[in-house]
Amino acid sequence: MAAVEANEGLASQDGEGVRRRDFINIAAVSFAGVGGAALLYPLVNQMNPSADVLALAQIDVDISAIQPGQAIKATWRRQPIFIRNLTPAEMQAANAVDASSLRDPQTLAERTKEGHPNWLITLGVCTHLGCVPLGAAEGENKGEYGGYFCPCHGSHYDTAARIRKGPAPRNLEVPEYEFTTDTAVRIG
Ligand code: FES
Repeated sequence: MAAVEANEGLASQDGEGVRRRDFINIAAVSFAGVGGAALLYPLVNQMNPSADVLALAQIDVDISAIQPGQAIKATWRRQPIFIRNLTPAEMQAANAVDASSLRDPQTLAERTKEGHPNWLITLGVCTHLGCVPLGAAEGENKGEYGGYFCPCHGSHYDTAARIRKGPAPRNLEVPEYEFTTDTAVRIG
């Protein structure tokens, strides 16, 4: 009887021992898991854009006050953006050109959004060497084609901001954007 009790005592100690080992193993695995996650987090976090980068990634612009014939400059991703409300005459001038004859062939329709043919949104960065062309602000030289003029080396852009004369190789770039309402755009 004494031997049985002694065996039961051993079994109980063993059971206790197993439970402790399990706990230690589980605790170690959990700790490794947390440690792994903790190690991963800074890596993942480093790959996420910071708040100021996110803020720059998209901008919302209220365009309700821009009258036909007027343009404004905004800043997006540290670059100037021109938002221009074309007059019917400016649209007509752009559409009268055979796009296939242009250095960078594009129609006005290809450079604007469907249903908003009067809103021309482009980067304000000359495609030659990156100067900021004139023509967005009131009274500025719009060049020989009534759009934008880059004074650095004399590039002329038309009313669809397409390169027409001078050294620039391409039209002013149209950024990614969408109309969020009829009077607001989200760029980026
Ligand atoms: Fe505009 Fe050279 S940078 S023409």
